[in-house]
Amino acid sequence: MKIAVYPGSFDPITNGHLDVIRRARKIFDLVYIAVITNPEKDPLFSISKRIEMIQQALTLKKGLKVESFKGLLVDYARARGATSIIRGLRAVSDFDYEFQMAITNYKMCPQIETLFLMTDYKYSYLSSNFVKQIARLGGSISQFVPPNVEKKLKNLFAKRI
Ligand code: PNS
Repeated sequence: MKIAVYPGSFDPITNGHLDVIRRARKIFDLVYIAVITNPEKDPLFSISKRIEMIQQALTLKKGLKVESFKGLLVDYARARGATSIIRGLRAVSDFDYEFQMAITNYKMCPQIETLFLMTDYKYSYLSSNFVKQIARLGGSISQFVPPNVEKKLKNLFAKRI
């Protein structure tokens, strides 16, 4: 059984993330979508809300598990029996940060490989931060996120205005 973990903030999940999950699932039997609060980011949604949104957005749930973890990613991946960490690559600008993280994780745990999957070019510009900014300013986000996330963001910002 080939197992991978796909970690991230997912604040909130976008169509770009869903595209990476679909691609990862073609390679691995089981993919853990692992939600974590990145200390460098100030999240809009709690971890449990993010997990709930991911679960609702997954049309095919077979071979996918959504959870959160605390501590080091490599320890979590090892505990789940994963051989790979999946990261999505959008543009060249992602590369420095991803390269540093992949090498550091490899130094800590060489048994686990980081695998980069390219997102469809349709999503190469897409980020959760832009989605939140557009929603906050009343723009349409229907092409960027699944319907349940669109609804959640609309309701949230409607209440705040
Ligand atoms: O979606 P993000 O915010 O870019 O994801 C970053 C994430 C969650 C993958 C990274 O912050 C992480 O792995 N955190 C867990 C703590 C850890 O293992 N840090 C060392 C990474 S080199």
